[in-house]
Amino acid sequence: MEQKQDKLKDIISHAKEYGFIFPSSEIYDGLAATYDYGQLGSELKNNIKTYWWKAMVQMHENIVGIDAAIFMHPTTWKASGHVDAFNDPLIDNKDSKKRYRADVLIEEHIEKIRQKIEKEVEKGKSRFGNDFNETQFRATNPNVLRNAEKITQIEARMKSSLEDNDLEAVRNLILDLEIVCPISGSKNWTEVRQFNLMFSTELGSVAGDASTIYLRPETAQGIFVNFLNVQKSGRMKIPFGIAQIGKAFRNEIVARQFIFRMREFEQMEMQFFVRPGEEMKWYEYWKDAREKWHKNLGLGNQKYRFHDHIKLAHYANAACDIEFNFPMGFKELEGIHSRTDFDLKQHEQHSGKKLQFFDPEINESYVPYVVETSVGLDRLFLAVLSAAIQNEKLEDGTERVVLNIPPVLAPYKAAILPLIKKDGLPEKAREIQKLLQFEYNVQYDEKDAIGRRYRRQDAIGTPICITVDHQTLEDSTVTIRERDTMLQDRISIHEIQQRIADKASWRKILTDLKNN
Ligand code: GAP
Repeated sequence: MEQKQDKLKDIISHAKEYGFIFPSSEIYDGLAATYDYGQLGSELKNNIKTYWWKAMVQMHENIVGIDAAIFMHPTTWKASGHVDAFNDPLIDNKDSKKRYRADVLIEEHIEKIRQKIEKEVEKGKSRFGNDFNETQFRATNPNVLRNAEKITQIEARMKSSLEDNDLEAVRNLILDLEIVCPISGSKNWTEVRQFNLMFSTELGSVAGDASTIYLRPETAQGIFVNFLNVQKSGRMKIPFGIAQIGKAFRNEIVARQFIFRMREFEQMEMQFFVRPGEEMKWYEYWKDAREKWHKNLGLGNQKYRFHDHIKLAHYANAACDIEFNFPMGFKELEGIHSRTDFDLKQHEQHSGKKLQFFDPEINESYVPYVVETSVGLDRLFLAVLSAAIQNEKLEDGTERVVLNIPPVLAPYKAAILPLIKKDGLPEKAREIQKLLQFEYNVQYDEKDAIGRRYRRQDAIGTPICITVDHQTLEDSTVTIRERDTMLQDRISIHEIQQRIADKASWRKILTDLKNN
């Protein structure tokens, strides 16, 4: 646990030191759970958005993107169910005065039992060696079975009490499981209460209910209310999707763990409109497609797992998360939800406007069903950063910190480094910079010894360093030094562009995705 916290601390301080992420309004001691992306952070974030947008919109002829306003008509949130049902169950520990999400306390308890099962499996592996049959072991080992049964029972109790909005039963479950406050260690819990997560404000100069508007808690509703606009103006035929990247706001009670849970964050969402009855086929399709998209980044396939929702949101008939192994353990990175026709039907009812599609193939009008993919941009940022940061011991006994960021996402694709600051080397290096900067974000750096400059680029994840030396002036060749292997080779200046493209171009990562 301590190790995990240390890892998160390392990431936070590295992110600040190199200009990826700063605490918001830091000169005023910051604002809880709010962060600013710095000069390198915004580059990395933009690259993540581009990977998503290109894969989602550019590579699918039946998906288009929009950019809806954050403010929406207040009835939107009544119709969507957020005014009445977008709540978190809260519980306070009376001794530490700390507030928790009751469902998260229970889920963390379940996770501990799950870890016991994994430990048992690991023990089995080392005991039986090559003869180990994991499936059989999981199906027969008494300790594994007992713990699996415990999980099933807890999940069933949690599901039914949350679905019935029976907050007393949620509290009783916490008491029965003897869950203690991580700060005070006591079981002195308050009642469980519901808390609405939407931020509200007033529109214009008149206060009162009529002018209360909300900061959107998800970008999805901007897509639903534009369903017909996009379908008609784009002559879209079902199945088709509408994608959007944008800010969302939630008054999270327990906003901790750096950029994992913030009150202002960004989502990349896509609503896929399908024929009623075909939603499960498309749900499976998008689960598979999204898993491939994530794994194509190369952060490590073992870092992902699916988790089916225990309690379905008010709009869903199937839902799961793609979880990522963050420094704090496996946690939700993306949600995939089969939202039925709930949202469009609700908007039909509340607006009095028809939101239907005439399907010429079956000669019928219907309200389409929706499968949604929704990934948190900031969470993906944290996933990339935490998987990338490495402290390496080198053969010569020294150490380096290197960010093995997927090259296409790196803030700078290359650094151009004149070996020394004279003899015409800076001028030559500037020429190369000018050549590359139309296509790639590159950095010129002439300060300090070359070894230190390499280390600096390693620490910010630049995949390629291009060193200009005296030989460059004679034969127009440069030294290329690779971030991950630290190997060096010499190529001619006119080959540099291709070298970067082979490693870090959109074409490369999107081709890999398509071929997967
Ligand atoms: N439209 C569906 C929706 O909003 P969600 O599971 O509540 O579903 C989707 O959110 C994704 O948004 C999550 O998987 C997570 O990555 C991200 N997200 C949600 N709340 C967040 C928060 N407070 N801070 C950062 N990211 C968050």
